[in-house]
Amino acid sequence: MPVIKKNVSLKPYNTFGVDVSASYFVKANTLEKILYAINFASYNQLPIFIIGGGSNMLLTKNLNGVMVNPFIQGLTLTEETDSDAIVKVGAGMTWDALVNIAVDHGWGGIENLSNIPGSVGAAPIQNIGAYGVEAKDAIFKVEAIEIKTRKSLEFSNSECRFGYRDSIFKQELRGKVIVTHVWFKLSKKPEYQLAYGNLKEEVEKLGGVSLKNIRQAVINIRSAKLPDPAVIGNAGSFFKNPVVEDVLFQKIQQDYPDVPHFSVSESHVKIPAGWLIEQCGWKGKRVGSCGVHDKQALVLVNYGGATGEEILTLARSIQQSVYDRFHINLDMEVNIC
Ligand code: EPU
Repeated sequence: MPVIKKNVSLKPYNTFGVDVSASYFVKANTLEKILYAINFASYNQLPIFIIGGGSNMLLTKNLNGVMVNPFIQGLTLTEETDSDAIVKVGAGMTWDALVNIAVDHGWGGIENLSNIPGSVGAAPIQNIGAYGVEAKDAIFKVEAIEIKTRKSLEFSNSECRFGYRDSIFKQELRGKVIVTHVWFKLSKKPEYQLAYGNLKEEVEKLGGVSLKNIRQAVINIRSAKLPDPAVIGNAGSFFKNPVVEDVLFQKIQQDYPDVPHFSVSESHVKIPAGWLIEQCGWKGKRVGSCGVHDKQALVLVNYGGATGEEILTLARSIQQSVYDRFHINLDMEVNIC
């Protein structure tokens, strides 16, 4: 039986460092404990909330319900061939601990995703991505418990319906399942992905291409740009990079010939939200206890003591400015609770 704590501050459990509370909190390191928490919530007619590493959420109010922190650990090598290793990993393992183990074993596929805060269980939910790689490229299947039926379900890679920072778990299954394990297919003969930004250059500086050097290069690049949540509260990119119609892009390019962009189809172009936000004058701007990071405008920061509502108000003002200037709606990447 897990310990069910009452009136728990969630400040240590979210990387924004916002101080709200949950009426009940359960850290569940086994399937049985997760099921116990579900039964407790159902018996008391309370909603369930799920928190992994708390690195992609903005908490705006006290939560009247049962906050479950799935904390299942462990990594099992379930299958190994000359070319691949399939591993089953507990949802509660820290994401970067998994990347570290993979790199140490010479298993490629997730090294570009080094240093992303959060837990393994959250990786499929928002299909974490960085430096030209997304979690979906390595996820083999996902195991989850359906809250309503208490049944264990399995989702193949295609059943997860992965998209850009998106999956079935963020759409129709939002709040309906709890991810317990994620299976990854990692490569013993990795194809290195070095095309993004200055990654190749950074890897060369470290002595040439290897899984370890890619991991270190990504860590170096990220640490130079992104604030460490242990030092300053943040949840990484707050918004998604918008995909806009070519016609709109051309208009913007007339006024801003240097607008960075990536073609995603014949008719659509992705524009970095960080650039749009910077053009609107927000980069490095502070509003009360929160603000926009001075090295990456896509990241909102809590300088200490900001409420979730304050950060949300700032986010909405940014959306409004970007809309007013560019006629582009920025979607939030972070989940608002
Ligand atoms: N840019 C600016 N000003 C800024 C920030 C960015 O002009 O303040 C422009 C620059 O031209 C830069 C381009 O935007 O070349 C891209 O910037 P960056 O490489 O930092 O990537 P991003 O598009 O801002 C995305 C992900 C990050 C991921 C990086 C690297 C999203 C929403 N964000 O950011 O993911 O680390 O690429 O792959 O797709 C996260 O999801 O939390 C996250 C940090």
